[in-house]
Amino acid sequence: MRQNRFDTLLKIVLVVGIILIIILGGYILFQIHTERSTARDGAVETGVSGSSESSESVEKTVPEAPENIVAEASSSTAVSTESAQPDPSKYDTSDNWALILVNSSHPYPNGYTVPVTMVENGQATDSRCAAHMQQMLEDCRAAGYDPLVVSGYRTHSQQIQDFDSMTGMYVSEGYSEEDARAKTAESVALPGTSEHETALAADIGCEHNTAIDSSQDGEAVQKWLHENCWKYGYALRYPAGKQRITKIVYESWHYRYVGMTAAKVMYDENLCLEEYLEKYVEPFTSLEDLDRQAMKTLGLSYTGSALAES
Ligand code: DAL
Ligand code: ZN
Repeated sequence: MRQNRFDTLLKIVLVVGIILIIILGGYILFQIHTERSTARDGAVETGVSGSSESSESVEKTVPEAPENIVAEASSSTAVSTESAQPDPSKYDTSDNWALILVNSSHPYPNGYTVPVTMVENGQATDSRCAAHMQQMLEDCRAAGYDPLVVSGYRTHSQQIQDFDSMTGMYVSEGYSEEDARAKTAESVALPGTSEHETALAADIGCEHNTAIDSSQDGEAVQKWLHENCWKYGYALRYPAGKQRITKIVYESWHYRYVGMTAAKVMYDENLCLEEYLEKYVEPFTSLEDLDRQAMKTLGLSYTGSALAES
């Protein structure tokens, strides 16, 4: 009898125990499932679009972050924009006529003719910068040197003559016509692309050495002019180390009027004209607009670039 009661009690305990274990196991499984669902739903909501509740929770969780990121982004954008933006004080738009680019890939505009003034030695220059040239020569002389303008303004036909004559010299040395022209173009601009044709450039040598070649490199006149020409609005147009850009060999004697602002910036920052234009002018004005304005200041109408070859 007692044994029966004990067996019945044991069975009840076992059944209750099993039921408790089942309930506990179920609860644990439910909890695990719920956690996984929450994690999965959260990831989906954050990663894609989410419900309004989840967006709200993102906004609430990180209220400062977007603002800070935007501020940082905009300030870093401002910094990079600022460094990319040229300093307007380094570009004087009123000097646009003096900034006209003339090089192998950019011939001067069709019909470009300027009033010229005789300077010395039968050489002329653009009348608008003649006084600057005169003053530079005068000050150079006052400093004890003997500068002499050897070649200033050249007509188109003079440039053709200069180009053909040097090409002929290379041909006579054994170069093919094509190679001779290419070699010539490194030191004599192709007609239509010479700054001498614009009257803005001058080859300055010395009274005691009028050869326009590398014999000028060591002349004291050139040293003085290299260091001082910017004060008169001139730039050493084909500096050493810039041939890759200018496409012209180092010419220690070729000075180009670019205006007072550009000349100083080019000197201070060691920029050739192409680099100066790219850095400080082209963000505001296209090269074509420079041509257009240069023509306008001369009362001429712009109809495109002159042909490089003629
Ligand atoms: N010597 C320079 C490049 C000219 O001929 O214009
Ligand atoms: Zn020259």
